[in-house]
Amino acid sequence: MKHCIEPTDLNKGELLELIELAEDMIASPSKYQEVCKGKQLATLFYEPSTRTRLSFTSAMLALGGSVLGFSDAQTSSVSKGETVADTVRVISEYADIIAMRHYKEGAALVASQYGSIPVINAGDGSHSHPTQTLTDLLTIHRELGRLNKLTIGLCGDLKYGRTVHSLIKAMSSFQEIHFVLISSDELQLPKYMLEELEKSEQITVSLASRIEDVIGELDVLYMTRVQRERFANLDDYERCKNDFILDSKLLNLASKDMIVLHPLPRVNEITADIDNDPRAAYFRQAGNGKFIRMALIYTLLQKADSQSLSPNVPRLAPNLIPYTESCPNPVCITASESLQALAIEGERGYRCAYCESKL
Ligand code: NCD
Repeated sequence: MKHCIEPTDLNKGELLELIELAEDMIASPSKYQEVCKGKQLATLFYEPSTRTRLSFTSAMLALGGSVLGFSDAQTSSVSKGETVADTVRVISEYADIIAMRHYKEGAALVASQYGSIPVINAGDGSHSHPTQTLTDLLTIHRELGRLNKLTIGLCGDLKYGRTVHSLIKAMSSFQEIHFVLISSDELQLPKYMLEELEKSEQITVSLASRIEDVIGELDVLYMTRVQRERFANLDDYERCKNDFILDSKLLNLASKDMIVLHPLPRVNEITADIDNDPRAAYFRQAGNGKFIRMALIYTLLQKADSQSLSPNVPRLAPNLIPYTESCPNPVCITASESLQALAIEGERGYRCAYCESKL
């Protein structure tokens, strides 16, 4: 693992090692307070963020390192038309590691191909959000003591919710996982993910249209916000924004050991009257985000010290296939930057290597 672009960049052993390291960092923070002294994290945030950016910042400071970057792309040269590829080639000269959030799907992958320092994907469009997934795994592990044998309800915006997409991918490393997909037809999981899930050996899946029908069987209920900013038509958002709301009446139907997770921010999908219920784990989850990011930054920096990234760019992973047609997804990074179209081969044909859309 040189970068963290997708949750699947980490195998099961690496996921467990990171969780163990994060738990040690929680138990003994002083042991780690100077381990990144002299190192700099660049936070390149092209999209709004509170928790992710500040937890990255807090994590790097807690490791003794320092932080530079921007939280509004309008104040950077992007507003002059600079590409992600050029930005990261330059930032690689100033910093030791990058955390990037971008509204274009595949932007972090491009950054990893052009920069010469480790890149962490802090969210790329609706596509992926691996460090939220690491936060979720650490939280489930701390709260329930296991990452196997889990029934996880994913509720709300499964179409645009990148945290849901990444969590599903990461859980393929564990055993006896059952996902219950609770959403309207309109906000159902992207087709390519449903197809992958249906053929998965480790993961089973079922669909539900009401929380009350399934909440009693869940170990984890993962609530999500309807992603207003991703809708092409706001009337569609208005129609589905109130479809799934967890309140104390519904929570009464859950087991006493179930936990409620939410990547936050919440809008209205969890009512405040359950915040003090011991099963409401979402604020503890946000707290865990700092420690798993500490573990990730420290691990990637240690690896970067022992292996230099070749100066030849772009650096392409061996499984990426040059492709002649362009990706049809208008929010794919390839739609706005001049990049070689690349594909990955799945069981059902080729998909874009950047955003995973069907080619
Ligand atoms: C999530 C995101 O940005 O995808 N937030 C986060 O990183 N904690 C979820 C969301 O914005 O709804």
